[in-house]
Amino acid sequence: MSRDLHAQMVGREAELTRLRTSFGRMVRRGTPYRMTVLGEAGIGKSRLSGAFADSIAGRARTITATCVDAGSGRTFGLLHDLLIQAGGGSDWESVADLLDNKEPGLGGRLAGVLGPGDLKGPPQQFFGDLRRAFELLSAVQPLAVIVDDIHWAESTLLDLFEYVSESLTGPAFFLFLARPELVELRAEWSVGGERTDVLYLDPLGVDAIAQVVRNRASVDLPPADEQRIIETAQGNPLFAEQLLAAFANAETDAIPASLRGLLATRIDRLGPGERDLLRAAAVAGDHLSSEALEILAPDEARPFLARNLESLARKRLLRHTEQKGVEFPHGLIREAAYQSLTRRDRARLHLAFAEWLERTGDAPRDELDAVVGHHLEQAVVNQRRVGLASDAALEARAGTKLASAGSRAYTRMDMSAASNLLARALDLLPDGHPLVPTATQSLAEVSLPLGDHARAQELLLELSNMPGVDPVDRWLARLEHARSMCITGPHGMTADDLVAIAWQAAGFFSEAGHDNGLAQAIFLLGWLEQRGGNPVGAVNSGRRSLECAQRGGALREQFAAAFQISRNLIGGPTPVPECIEEIESLMGERGEPNPIVMGILARAYAMTGEFDEARRLLDRARPLLMERMRVRRLLAFIAWDSAEIETLAGDAAAAVSAYRVALTPFRNGNEAEHVGETSSRLALLLAAEGHLEEARELANEAQAVTPTDCVVVRVLAMMAAARSLPPGEIEASLAKAAAAINLVPELMPNLKADLLVEQSRVQAAAALAEDARSSVDTAITLYERKGNVAALRLLRA
Ligand SMILES: Nc1ncnc2c1ncn2[C@@H]1O[C@H](COP(=O)(O)OP(=O)(O)OP(=O)(O)O)[C@@H](O)[C@H]1O
Ligand SMILES: [Mg+2]
Repeated sequence: MSRDLHAQMVGREAELTRLRTSFGRMVRRGTPYRMTVLGEAGIGKSRLSGAFADSIAGRARTITATCVDAGSGRTFGLLHDLLIQAGGGSDWESVADLLDNKEPGLGGRLAGVLGPGDLKGPPQQFFGDLRRAFELLSAVQPLAVIVDDIHWAESTLLDLFEYVSESLTGPAFFLFLARPELVELRAEWSVGGERTDVLYLDPLGVDAIAQVVRNRASVDLPPADEQRIIETAQGNPLFAEQLLAAFANAETDAIPASLRGLLATRIDRLGPGERDLLRAAAVAGDHLSSEALEILAPDEARPFLARNLESLARKRLLRHTEQKGVEFPHGLIREAAYQSLTRRDRARLHLAFAEWLERTGDAPRDELDAVVGHHLEQAVVNQRRVGLASDAALEARAGTKLASAGSRAYTRMDMSAASNLLARALDLLPDGHPLVPTATQSLAEVSLPLGDHARAQELLLELSNMPGVDPVDRWLARLEHARSMCITGPHGMTADDLVAIAWQAAGFFSEAGHDNGLAQAIFLLGWLEQRGGNPVGAVNSGRRSLECAQRGGALREQFAAAFQISRNLIGGPTPVPECIEEIESLMGERGEPNPIVMGILARAYAMTGEFDEARRLLDRARPLLMERMRVRRLLAFIAWDSAEIETLAGDAAAAVSAYRVALTPFRNGNEAEHVGETSSRLALLLAAEGHLEEARELANEAQAVTPTDCVVVRVLAMMAAARSLPPGEIEASLAKAAAAINLVPELMPNLKADLLVEQSRVQAAAALAEDARSSVDTAITLYERKGNVAALRLLRA
């Protein structure tokens, strides 16, 4: 943050006070706090953060970083820099020593993920390790973590900051600055909470802008000019500064009404030498060395470089840095200069810069590959746009760089960066290139946890037919495709097709002695049994899958199998206490608690009526999920567990809101089975509260999306439809409810009891008191057999 942060700040007293007050409270309470400052470009966010940092000097260790435009591959590099500053030294060794002294191994593990060292231990630990590091460092001295331009950050980085700022214990103040588009990436960050706050930065008032103009003007302006600047700037100090520079250089005819327009005009009017230089610099990024500038400048401009730089600095379009390079005083100037380049020039300059970087770049490998790949890619893209013949060698070079950066991001489990890099690599790599199969496979694997099932399916299908793919990988791709089809569909395939694939794959993998593949095949069989209403079969398959996965060592398969077993134990006839015993034994597989299984365990405790224990488990599961699985989408499962628990606790309002939370990601991922089940359950709750219209919509949605082979969800959706019909259609309600009961699988006593209770309400509404009572009686017998104490209490209340 070397911009004009220390030039005198005008106004903003209230905003600064608010930041300082929150900071003071954070120090007193010793608990973390997250503040997000939102505002349009040039409005003064960075300036305000600079003033804030100055004002707390000595009371905290302030560490700062700025996110840069996509393509830089700097997700983890930025964290690396932050930790170095937090350790108080200037190199990684000192912070690593500090951490290792307090917790042996921690510094080394972080170095492995953040780049400077080799990967040590599973990258799953990384979220937790990073939180721990911030915790230990904040114990030395309170921390103020300032991250500017966070709207450029990859979503993994946002996940990390969200997780760390919410889960660490210790005095740490997180200040994030962003343009308003952050709201599209992270809506949650635009509302305040107990430990979070948002500050929208408004335009400066007229008086303040007038003051900015007077402070900055090097000569006295005629009052008419001053007035014009103040009016045009619309409270934006950057706009005011640029207007001032335009007036100072007598560029005053036809002043554009927008900041971006003004910048474009100013660049247009530069002399050819200045303009070429500014544009060349814009390709390289916000800062660049004089050597890079020299490479990028056109031959004929080189002798005049120094002179042109001087005049650009005078015009406040570029400035010198302490490290003998140059930088743009503001990102918007660079954007405007870049926009003014022709595509042909962009292609040429990106290529020249990439080659120079490759020769001389000293960034860590990951970053260098990503950056060089980005510039090569831009060279290709711009060549294509002007209709130049495609240059296969250049495309392959660009693709190779991006693929290698992408696969390293994947090994560090930086899913969003991996997805971005690999997708771009595949766009560039020519057909038949040897990197295509592995890049395709990695991208498919990354797409699944990110919830992009459609893309995963397409890639997996491609892979299972791609020439030159190893048969093991081909079968793994088929299985993965079938599994993903289970989540969204199975569109165009039947459950029988999927069963057939699972059996064939099981045959192949058992012949090949490939335990992990076998685990995956058996898991799929178990899932299909579960969907067909056979929880007992699903538990058995889950157990076999778990055994295979333990032999083969595949962590994901172990987690999945454990989930399958626990979920179906709960759904099946096994009494709750026995379920709890087995689920508890599953949770600690290899000493790594599985948060998804923990959520199911919480449900089981809720059934016994131990709600405190249930809620405590969920509270533990939430942060663990981010630590171990690193996938936000999975939080929907925890919300779902919470909804079931609150339903049993009789807190319908809490249950309704938790179901709503779960529904959004399920819908976004087109997860048919999950949408069906969640919206049916939500509809049943809403119908009980008399909100028939919304209940009906949800029931319709559930009926429309639920795949035919999902017996369990189908009966739920039918019951939801029965319960949400208007009172005038009682006959239809009775018929639908009876049909649902007839279809409930015998092996699912708890579900049957839930639905009988619903049926009894329809019967009561139809004045069939006798029938209603008998439905409830049967439900009671079933709940008793299952050991669902909580449901019994609710019924008797
Ligand atoms: N309150 C203020 N008083 C005086 N100058 C200011 C004030 N706020 C901002 N400026 C100046 O206006 C320019 C733009 O401000 P700044 O860089 O902080 O904007 P920003 O909101 O961070 O923009 P971006 O979204 O592009 O990062 C800078 O030169 C800054 O010094
Ligand atoms: Mg800024």
